Amino acid sequence: MTTIRVHLPGTAAASDLANDRSYDIVCGGGTLRSIGGLVRDAGGRRAVVVSDAAVVTTHAAQVLASLVTAGVDAALLEVPSGEASKSIDAAGCLWNEFARQAVDRDTHVVAVGGGVVGDLAGFVAATFARGLSVWQVPTTLVAQVDSAIGGKTGINLESGKNLVGVFWQPRGVVADIDTLATLPPREFISGLAEVVKYGMIIDAAFFAWLEEHAAAILARESAALTHAVERSAAIKADVVGRDEREISGLRAALNYGHTFAHAYETAAGFGTLLHGEAVAIGMARAARLAERLGRLSHDVVARQDALLRLLQLPVAPPAGLHDAAPLIAIMGRDKKTVGGKLRFVLPSRIGHVELVDGVPDDVVHAVLQQA
Ligand code: GLY
Repeated sequence: MTTIRVHLPGTAAASDLANDRSYDIVCGGGTLRSIGGLVRDAGGRRAVVVSDAAVVTTHAAQVLASLVTAGVDAALLEVPSGEASKSIDAAGCLWNEFARQAVDRDTHVVAVGGGVVGDLAGFVAATFARGLSVWQVPTTLVAQVDSAIGGKTGINLESGKNLVGVFWQPRGVVADIDTLATLPPREFISGLAEVVKYGMIIDAAFFAWLEEHAAAILARESAALTHAVERSAAIKADVVGRDEREISGLRAALNYGHTFAHAYETAAGFGTLLHGEAVAIGMARAARLAERLGRLSHDVVARQDALLRLLQLPVAPPAGLHDAAPLIAIMGRDKKTVGGKLRFVLPSRIGHVELVDGVPDDVVHAVLQQA
């Protein structure tokens, strides 16, 4: 078991010293069983477990048992699997259910599942009764390496992903690697896109390690998988600790590939492409955009494509998603635009990206139309 700290201390001002929101990511096999003790020790007398329907009888049941064993009074709420649950309706159902169950500020919310449940339950926890403690228990790869860490919560609108949400840091994250063993292959592979992302944006040595260990990771060999998850979580924790609110530009680097990805996800209809698949395609497009702008050598574009393919991820959008105009319109509504202008995170080499503003629309257009 490894513990990775997300450092979010209060400022040095005396009035703020107590405001240390730092927390731990507990990573490793079998860690699900630790959640009850963690919630109890943090003062949680009651807990509401919000779980994805797909894991309700497996991982969520284990979490519930751990809470009960620790003496925490716990109830379970299930939300349907899939991106459609990141909606106003789903949030409304949970708010009403929390009210019906007289959830109060001593109640901790425990989100068990993938990114959808984590984002939804985090958002509902942040907004109910002006904010409840939330624990993230990610059971998918994409959630363990990315979405459960860093406090981004939210729901989608028809016009775009994550357009309504708040930063709401969890009290802790429990990432049990054993839960990855039963993930459907497509979902597991999709999560690897975010892992590749960390290599591309920050850690060239990790990128090279992924190239060497792709087969072991795909086979879900414990040692390789554990290293991939721990290194990714540690990078994410470090970035969040240094730029929690995406102000300095460091955290924005985590959006590498995501401007393209969100456009493809929205255009395809939520749930058609898995998030990680869209991110893989988005990174491949972003690298091509960087190459067209003379910021990246073709070798790097090819090397990134090769690693994505080795991990069985797509590098081109599905048929029907090559029409640039609707995709550019969606990108224009993305919350990552600045003053109405598109902003892209573009690599200049493996392990380094830059924020680039003012990219001409016709260059983006050409990259989107590319086969
Ligand atoms: N997934 C990007 C971030 O958490 O900032």
